[in-house]
Amino acid sequence: MTIADIMQKRTSVRAFTDRPVPGKTLKTIFSQAQGAPSNCNVQPWQTYVVSGAAKDELKDLLVQEVTTKMTPNPDFDWQVKYRGIHKDRQYDAAFALYDAMGIGRDDKAARSMAMLKNWSFFDAPHAAFFVMEKYLGLMGAVDLGIYAQSLALLMTENGISSCMQGALGQFPDPVRTFFNYPKSQGVLFGMSFGYANTSADVNRTRTDRAGLDQAVQFIG
Ligand SMILES: Cc1cc2nc3c(=O)[nH]c(=O)nc-3n(C[C@H](O)[C@H](O)[C@H](O)COP(=O)(O)O)c2cc1C
Repeated sequence: MTIADIMQKRTSVRAFTDRPVPGKTLKTIFSQAQGAPSNCNVQPWQTYVVSGAAKDELKDLLVQEVTTKMTPNPDFDWQVKYRGIHKDRQYDAAFALYDAMGIGRDDKAARSMAMLKNWSFFDAPHAAFFVMEKYLGLMGAVDLGIYAQSLALLMTENGISSCMQGALGQFPDPVRTFFNYPKSQGVLFGMSFGYANTSADVNRTRTDRAGLDQAVQFIG
């Protein structure tokens, strides 16, 4: 597969089979992703990958936290209220997801249940959490984003599907306690991954993209 093929093939997947990714493949992918560039080569990502019983334990802690606390308290200022065209695209993406799941646009209860699946990692066999020193702010976030997309593309190359999840940075307390990193660090976001359940309705979700003329201006 060329990089162009992989770019086209990667979509967010939100239902998985139970089959775990072999440990050797995991190590290969995460070691290849170490090649991601970062500002001044600081490589700020501290990544925690949970699988098996540990993953289930963290899932239980997160679901408990989300359902009792309800109000997010992210380590990083990431609760943007989208405006204009961004808001339109946010709505389109949400509707694409709920339509694929057969959830009515006004069915708030079903939407909440679908949202909650974020914290059970969509039943994926693995979840990665992207942690960095809080002082790094915006530049660290840029580096982590590039790193995460590198990971997603490498996974796609290996037949592994993923979903990046800002949701996994919204309730950071159980995450910090579980991985035991210092208070100077925070979780920015995460990613559930594994082998796609190809018969799940949710995995039929497809999002579109703006035309090139709306995104890029070629000058000169
Ligand atoms: C930084 C980031 C955070 C995201 N957070 C979530 C999330 O919390 N839950 C979710 O279901 N999808 C999440 N997504 C997936 C986006 O909704 C998805 O990438 C977008 O709709 C485009 O669809 P595609 O990935 O299938 O091309 C996130 C994606 C990114 C890049």
